[in-house]
Amino acid sequence: MKTPRLGVNVDHVATLRQARGTAYPDPVAAALLAEGAGADQITVHLREDRRHIQDRDVRLLRQTIQTRLNLEMAVTDEMCEIALGVRPDMVTLVPEKRHERTTEGGLDAIGNRESLVPLIQTLHHEGIVVSLFIDPHEDQVRASQALGAHSVELHTGDYCLARRPAERAAELRKLADAGRLAADLGLIVAAGHGLDTRNVVDVAALRLFEEFNIGHSIVARALFIGFEGAVIEMKAAIARGCAEGA
Ligand code: PXP
Repeated sequence: MKTPRLGVNVDHVATLRQARGTAYPDPVAAALLAEGAGADQITVHLREDRRHIQDRDVRLLRQTIQTRLNLEMAVTDEMCEIALGVRPDMVTLVPEKRHERTTEGGLDAIGNRESLVPLIQTLHHEGIVVSLFIDPHEDQVRASQALGAHSVELHTGDYCLARRPAERAAELRKLADAGRLAADLGLIVAAGHGLDTRNVVDVAALRLFEEFNIGHSIVARALFIGFEGAVIEMKAAIARGCAEGA
């Protein structure tokens, strides 16, 4: 398997900007630096409350970046309309709760079947790749494939939060089992949420993931060593994991 793609999520550059209502720091500038440092994709989550990324950012990213644009969004008519206007390369459908600090769990591909089917079909029809951000559970993977998704992004949050070795190993096993099943079902397999240069190594070593979407830890590290350095470090950590798992 090739080295996985790194999707750099620039949401938290916008978080810093929105904290003061300034024009800086600009997530679009960060995206261009990330690409220069080897990012394979730029990921943004346009939240319904617009707490970080703004509509303007998504439009400008579409016009400027040279790699792929992955738009994370909730399953709503408003977001569907925006996606059809912007035409990202990929849409990742995520659950969204207004008061959560960040995306707290995966999308329920079983319970939301009725709203997901028409949205996935509409996006497919327009040539936009659709990924579902789900928990690493067999029934969610099977449901995603049945709904016609091209890709699943497995939520790595529980793995990243696990502190005790046994708990961490159990969470890693869930990612491995769900990732293997998704690959066997012909889905593109991605992972993300809470990953950093340490915990990504064991996930990359599974050699099941074609793509990682990583934001918070890269933006945090960029404060100290710069955006390009932070992206280069993350690419190196992923490559190290892949080499360990080979
Ligand atoms: N993937 C998805 C679907 C997400 O919702 C997020 C958070 O916006 C990420 C990846 C990135 O997570 P983090 O910022 O913790 O790296």
